[in-house]
Amino acid sequence: MQKKELTLSLEAYTDAAELGKEDAALLELARKATADAYVPYSHFRVGAAVRLANGKTLTGTNQENAAYPAGLCAERVALSTASALYPGIAVTDLAVSYLNEQGDSRTPVSPCGICRQTLVEYENRSEKPIRILLAGQTGEVLAIGKASDLLPLAFTVHQLKND
Ligand code: THU
Repeated sequence: MQKKELTLSLEAYTDAAELGKEDAALLELARKATADAYVPYSHFRVGAAVRLANGKTLTGTNQENAAYPAGLCAERVALSTASALYPGIAVTDLAVSYLNEQGDSRTPVSPCGICRQTLVEYENRSEKPIRILLAGQTGEVLAIGKASDLLPLAFTVHQLKND
């Protein structure tokens, strides 16, 4: 028996002012997108913004439903929109922010498990890393180099095809 350890490396910035220009602009899009979330049930607004390899940026917000499991997270709305509008163009960066019912949003948000799985799918599809920025409306920003860092031992196409 061997013990193995998996480690996660990330960058922690004190706030958005410490980010480079492009990262700061993408995070700002995600922060602003929270205003457009459809959240009549949770009142938890999530905004996501993606940058594509062709330089385009676009946003997504969470879309809830009276049948709760039919709801969609902001990250998957942004990724699906990107894939629908720009099929085959790699997503290079994703920023996520939020605003809760109390308007409290000072610590980074973290993508749910289904969104991590979806991010890994798009990363494998393009064979390019998706850099992820996580933050509230203010405060600390976390940057993760690639989506697969957030989902160790992920189930992927490689297992499906046994390669
Ligand atoms: N949600 C997201 O949009 N992204 C996440 O990463 C976590 C959760 C949404 C789903 C639901 O509409 C609300 O936040 C509360 O869970």
